[in-house]
Amino acid sequence: MQTCIFPGSFDPITKGHVDIIERAARIFSRVIVAILCNSEKTPCFDLVTRRRMIETATAHIPGVVVQDFEGLLVDFLRQSDCRVVLRGVRGAQDLPYEQQIGAVNQHLMPEMETVVLMSKPEYSIISSTLIRELIGYKADLSLYVPQPVIDMIYVGE
Ligand code: PNS
Repeated sequence: MQTCIFPGSFDPITKGHVDIIERAARIFSRVIVAILCNSEKTPCFDLVTRRRMIETATAHIPGVVVQDFEGLLVDFLRQSDCRVVLRGVRGAQDLPYEQQIGAVNQHLMPEMETVVLMSKPEYSIISSTLIRELIGYKADLSLYVPQPVIDMIYVGE
């Protein structure tokens, strides 16, 4: 059974993330969505909320497991007995960063590989940073964020 780990902050999960997970689930029998828990950064959404958002947005995709991790990604890979990291790339602007973290991860764990999927064009402009800014203005998120996640963001409004 081939497993990949899709790490990220997911603050919050977007339609772009969901698309990458859906496509990865056709290639891998298990996709572990791994939420980075960074004690030095304060996310917009706490870990429990981000996990609920991801579980809700990916409930229709078979083989998806949601977990969180703290520390080095390669340590989480080893703990999970997995060698493949999945990343989504929206365009050329994402490549230097992905090349950098991919090379560092492979230096720390030579047997690992990074698999990169290209975002669909309609999702290539989406970022969680942009979504967080729109949330501050209570803007319409429907093009960028799955509806059940929007309902969790704008709860009670
Ligand atoms: O989606 P993001 O927020 O850009 O994801 C970044 C992530 C989680 C892949 C990266 O920050 C990470 O792997 N952090 C864990 C710490 C680590 O392993 N650092 C060394 C490689 S950069």
